[in-house]
Amino acid sequence: MKKVALTGIKPTGILHIGNYCGAIKPALELTKEYDARYFIADYHALNSIKDPKKLAANIREVAAGWLAAGLNPDAVIFYRQSSIPETFELTTMLMAFTSKGLMNRAHAYKAAVQDNTAQGDDPDAGVNMGLFTYPVLMAADIILFDSDVVPVGRDQVQHVEMAQDIAQAVNFNYKQDVLKVPQAVVQDTVAVVPGLDGRKMSKSYGNTIPLFTPEKQLRKLILRIVTNSQVVEEPKDPETSQIFLLYKLFASVEEQGALAHRYREGGMGWGEAKEELFRVVNRELTPLRNRFEAIMADPAKLDAILAQGAERARPIAAATVARFRKAAGID
Ligand code: ADP
Ligand code: TRP
Repeated sequence: MKKVALTGIKPTGILHIGNYCGAIKPALELTKEYDARYFIADYHALNSIKDPKKLAANIREVAAGWLAAGLNPDAVIFYRQSSIPETFELTTMLMAFTSKGLMNRAHAYKAAVQDNTAQGDDPDAGVNMGLFTYPVLMAADIILFDSDVVPVGRDQVQHVEMAQDIAQAVNFNYKQDVLKVPQAVVQDTVAVVPGLDGRKMSKSYGNTIPLFTPEKQLRKLILRIVTNSQVVEEPKDPETSQIFLLYKLFASVEEQGALAHRYREGGMGWGEAKEELFRVVNRELTPLRNRFEAIMADPAKLDAILAQGAERARPIAAATVARFRKAAGID
């Protein structure tokens, strides 16, 4: 039997090429080797997004984005967290095995408290229970599906470790392997994708290149990437250039070698380097953009895909909850 890979995608904004190269592509790569279960973590997004129209739009766009990027819903169980009520039953059960102290140590909560304290506010100002108990819901997402590996960004490793701790506490108490203990996998091979201003591309910095932006806008954004003031004639070091770093993510090995040579030779200005970058990015993204538009134009089909995923997911989830209830004496 194949091992299970599971990951959640929080629908908190429009997907950008940092998400694509850093999360979507590596996760799709894993589907070749694992039984993949990928879901839209809409209840996690509810902690921060209270505008219903915005949340609904984000859920659709992120789901359509994964499908457009190549997720095959027949091969991967693809669903919305909110369609799996067993998640919330398991969350309640896991709460009984989660110490409050563990939650106090979660990075997101700690950061909020530190910011509040630094500003002289009440330490818990603006902290809702969804944020405080975030790792328990995430543990339920993971444990519910007997996940072996959880591909995540570095910032999420602590949460997966908490899921391990909680599952182990349950197994220890009942002296049997009631729950599968998961492992985080971090894709270290993918560099941090730089944004337009050279910092990490992130929606919180407003420096992103949206994944499905129209061709004209894509070119405009790429031409806006900040560079140094080296003139055309000067030889340039590809290894320290953000533009080349982005180029490597979309170009073939031969193309990379050829362009690195032109950088080192001199005679190529940043404008030309950006046009080359636009060419390879647009080449890869054009089919994705077309698929994305087609999926967004057929909401009934998108809903049906997600509903079918939920239908396949629920029996697996129900079996985990039943196993736990039996072990707990709540039959
Ligand atoms: P953002 O920083 O824009 O809010 P998220 O935190 O929602 O992005 O990230 C979703 C996923 O995309 C995570 O797995 C994260 O590791 C990955 N990711 C986001 N930005 C980048 C980036 N610039 N480079 C590589 N991976 C990224
Ligand atoms: N917390 C994750 C993030 O912010 C999203 C997420 C929710 C998740 N549940 C999960 C990731 C379960 C992996 C497994 O990116």
